[in-house]
Amino acid sequence: MNQKTFYVSTPIYYVNDVPHIGHAYTTVAADTIARYKRLAGYDVFFLTGTDEHGQKIEHAASDKNLSPKELADNVVTRFKNLWEKLNISNDHFIRTTEEYHQKTVQAVFTKMKENGDIYLGEYEGWYCTPCETYWTETQLLDGNCCPSCRRPTTKLKEPSYFFRMSKYQDKLLEHIERNPDFIKPVSRRNEIISFIKEGLKDLSVSRVSFKWGVPVPGDEKHVIYVWIDALTNYISALGYPDRSEMFDKYWPGDYHIVGKDILRFHTVYWPTMLLSIGVDLPKSVFAHGWWTVEGQKMSKSLGNAIDPYWLADKFGVDPIRYFLLREVPFGLDGDFSFKALIHRINSDLANDLGNLLNRTLGMVNRYFDGVIPEYTDPESLDEELADTIKETFEKMDAQISELAFNKALSSIWELVGFLNRYVDTTTPWFLAKDEDKRGRLGSVLYCVLDGLRALSLMLYPFIPETSVNMRKQLNTEKDIYKTNFEELKKARTLESGIRLGEIKQLYPRLDEKEILADVKNLQDKEKEEQKAEELIDFETFSKMKIKVGQIYAAEKIKKSDKLLKLQVDLGSENRQIVAGIAKTYAPEDLIGKKVAVVANLKPAKLMGVDSEGMVLAASGDDRHFLIEIDEDVKAGSPVK
Ligand code: MSP
Repeated sequence: MNQKTFYVSTPIYYVNDVPHIGHAYTTVAADTIARYKRLAGYDVFFLTGTDEHGQKIEHAASDKNLSPKELADNVVTRFKNLWEKLNISNDHFIRTTEEYHQKTVQAVFTKMKENGDIYLGEYEGWYCTPCETYWTETQLLDGNCCPSCRRPTTKLKEPSYFFRMSKYQDKLLEHIERNPDFIKPVSRRNEIISFIKEGLKDLSVSRVSFKWGVPVPGDEKHVIYVWIDALTNYISALGYPDRSEMFDKYWPGDYHIVGKDILRFHTVYWPTMLLSIGVDLPKSVFAHGWWTVEGQKMSKSLGNAIDPYWLADKFGVDPIRYFLLREVPFGLDGDFSFKALIHRINSDLANDLGNLLNRTLGMVNRYFDGVIPEYTDPESLDEELADTIKETFEKMDAQISELAFNKALSSIWELVGFLNRYVDTTTPWFLAKDEDKRGRLGSVLYCVLDGLRALSLMLYPFIPETSVNMRKQLNTEKDIYKTNFEELKKARTLESGIRLGEIKQLYPRLDEKEILADVKNLQDKEKEEQKAEELIDFETFSKMKIKVGQIYAAEKIKKSDKLLKLQVDLGSENRQIVAGIAKTYAPEDLIGKKVAVVANLKPAKLMGVDSEGMVLAASGDDRHFLIEIDEDVKAGSPVK
């Protein structure tokens, strides 16, 4: 019989940033399901990788004086090392700069074109480089800022190939409606359905404004839009279209796991691309929530983007994996707090699980010289335990398949609780005092050891190192994959007469005060370092040429309630400058004012109006107040 297959993927991560806890979250979740399915006998393909093209990467590289490929090579190592550290069991790591992937991207583009779905047009829009997104004028904030990251956008007009995405609107809707599992969780599904019902537009799928990407076949001035390139990774990694063996085996994929921010790309762009090239759609896309840190958005500038390397070194890999999956329902947003992490480690891992293992093995050492006793004297409580083990397997099976990781862990911890109560109720330490009860003592300890065996199996997908560690101490089946999962799910399958391994504490208890103080020290140190990085030297400062300018004309800019167009006399020349001060000043109030002007700023267009320089103003909440200069100072005088 052919082995059942299972294909799970993470998003491919951008290489303009080093990995943080948010990236680790998606990857740990995908790893958990991959491990579980392997255990359950599936032939699994688990894919992760990096997204290395696009203007964002090109810019990040030039900021660091590197070529885009050099930057990618550096950051990829960080990702790969982190996945190794976190015990991620991916079967392949894809990089979009690899040749096989680029060939597939071109093949997909060509196929879309052959099917009549690509045409040449002209794109005009407000482009946000950090977000790699074009916005329409009505979507912009404050005149020209990106509604997603609030940074200024640039108006771009360029020849562009378009994908007839609109053509697939009805087919896509029909698919989503017929396949309730296609988009999960259900709240996200509804969001996407309403988005599609508003009407799908054609998608601009090539750029001529930069070079770092896969060239459009036959028109190499254009590079293929980075999302078309990136999404194709899910099939290029399987050898589509030339080497079809892996593709035939694993496609359609079972789960694309993604963050909620990139759901639309995966449930609108990706499926319509697949419809265009005649490839089946993936079975399910699951959007998980976002992590904040101590209540705040994670960001480089706040210095709170938690480094997963540091976390894993400080707390251990499994506690981090456990915390991420246990603390928050997959699909909802969550908050990372050190207090909550320490609490989970002390209470769930060290206390409930660690102590159970430790005290049970201690008793087997004491009363049975470390050898697993026979099960000879049954009692009804043992049946209850056996039923609980069976039910826990059934529950977790369903819960993991739904990616309800926190529920699965909570089911497992109900079994941990049951086992702890079983020990407390059967009181082996009293049984040990009565020679007549030796048979029952052995049976009780056998049952708990067998429960621990079952636990080690259940925990394997989530916290593999702990699982291996438990199994070593129980001296049970060495290679977890060589076992028959169905057999192992049954209670009382542990072999008697075997000597236990060396007893080791699973997790040390953490001193909350001490750890929180360490964390604070580290954060303070990082802030200091960041501050030091932010200081500029005199040479940098003196690159800025500030001059006194006198405003001699001012007018409003159409459609903008924030911007004014100023004409400024800089002594030796006149300049046109656009300034965001319309909420503070009427144009007529400005005439004659002497202000500080940054004279060597690169010219820019704001709301379509040329601006050559910037006037300095102090920012209030919503208003900006000009730095005014004494009227005796001549226009053009330097400000130092
Ligand atoms: N390169 C694209 C994905 C292309 S997939 C064909 C991308 N990369 S990313 O590096 O910016 O983000 C990758 C994933 O990390 C996203 O799913 C995103 O949601 C996730 N996270 C980034 N920050 C996160 C949190 N703060 N919390 C949880 N996950 C977050 O998007």
